[in-house]
Amino acid sequence: MAPVTRCMPPGPPPAHRRLREATRHEHAAAERTAVMQALLNGQLDDAAYGRLLLGQYALHRAWETERAAWLHGELADAGWYYASRSEALARDLADWGLSREDEPLPLACASHSQVVGGSSASWGELYVIEGSALGGQILLRLLEKRFPGHAHHFFRLGQEAGRGTWRTFQSMLDHQLSQLDQQQTAIAAARAMFGRAQRMLEAVRA
Ligand code: HEM
Repeated sequence: MAPVTRCMPPGPPPAHRRLREATRHEHAAAERTAVMQALLNGQLDDAAYGRLLLGQYALHRAWETERAAWLHGELADAGWYYASRSEALARDLADWGLSREDEPLPLACASHSQVVGGSSASWGELYVIEGSALGGQILLRLLEKRFPGHAHHFFRLGQEAGRGTWRTFQSMLDHQLSQLDQQQTAIAAARAMFGRAQRMLEAVRA
């Protein structure tokens, strides 16, 4: 008798691929902001770098506060070590002689997720943060040339993590977001997170 082959219904494509494709446009918009362009062109001055650090601090501190329970609970239980961006940025601000109270941006431009609650939304937001550390390695090299003698803790985080770590993170995304509805929530949250970053980057004068 011929072997019976069972047709499995095809599942959605892996989450990491869907997230990348669904946020391509948002990524390009972030790269086009004046402050990112100034950084890429070697034209960022001391004051603008300080404003960028303050803006990044406001954004990441707000997000880490909102998602504190998830970061220290479910995410830690899943085995992912999240390196606090706001802590790295606090060290950069001190190194730059800036106070955390110097935040020039109204917190409204950095805070409040549009996609409320839920683990899938948190994974989608974290995708933006962890992914940004990849391009951060290019930015780190430019910053080291432009401002030698500074640690650039925030932008160094991606270098410390490395490629293997990113692949591990992508596998976790695929595992945690295996269902279509989970992926849709994560994509909406990732787009909203890019939106928050975009508003912050646009508010930072280059
Ligand atoms: C001038 C600024 C930027 C440059 C040049 C840049 C560059 C890059 C590059 C080259 C990669 C791919 C790295 C690789 O696969 O090896 C990447 C990935 C990524 N970047 Fe950026 N980036 C910039 C800004 C940002 C910002 C501001 C964010 C977030 C708000 C961001 C979020 C991401 C994410 C989520 C990924 C992962 C994409 C994927 O799924 O493969 N990037 N970036």
